[in-house]
Amino acid sequence: MEISFTNELDRLADGLADQGYAIIDNFLSAGEVDSILQLDEFKGDWGRFQKAGVGKSSERQIKENIRGDYIHWINPDSAAPAIRVYLAKLNSLIKHVNQSLFLSLKDFEVHMTVYPIGSYYHRHLDQFKRDDHRKLSVICYLNKDWQEADGGQLKIYTNADSFSILPLAGRLVCFRSDLLEHEVLPATRNRLSLTGWILDQHSDLRHL
Ligand code: OGA
Ligand code: MN
Repeated sequence: MEISFTNELDRLADGLADQGYAIIDNFLSAGEVDSILQLDEFKGDWGRFQKAGVGKSSERQIKENIRGDYIHWINPDSAAPAIRVYLAKLNSLIKHVNQSLFLSLKDFEVHMTVYPIGSYYHRHLDQFKRDDHRKLSVICYLNKDWQEADGGQLKIYTNADSFSILPLAGRLVCFRSDLLEHEVLPATRNRLSLTGWILDQHSDLRHL
């Protein structure tokens, strides 16, 4: 693997340890983003997406006033090559973070995500009330030529402060799922991403 990617993962581990979050630009190259955007799911075939819910399993509810995104879970065992490139990088990330921070993260769960124009996700924490296996939230954005005026920022709340991150193509944001509240602001364009969590147990998604 190229040295620069290892350096970026070092920086990510430091960021997680020091502040609970990190951003890596160009985690996916422009070409890698293009390949993912060429997949049927993202090329307007949103029939495959489902309305995202709030809560886990039987407690899951659709709450339009809390979150307005559409999702499509990825089975890593049958994922398209373009997606596998991303999942392989997530595996490198897990390995690196485990070594650097002495963690025992084991797997990930990832879905394709579309926030239609004007939709948002209210301030929240990613861990479920009775399930703390989500340790790190990882989101990689797929939006080319995104401008500040397009909105759609991820707003992260720290103790006394908050800051906003633009959902730029290829950019990865990673943060502690148990610690950092965050929200997705409405956008003037459809906002696409791969949204996932790194778990301390094996994921169910291989059995989709
Ligand atoms: C989520 C979420 C943030 C983003 O799906 O839980 O907070 O920037 N996503 O898409
Ligand atoms: Mn979230």
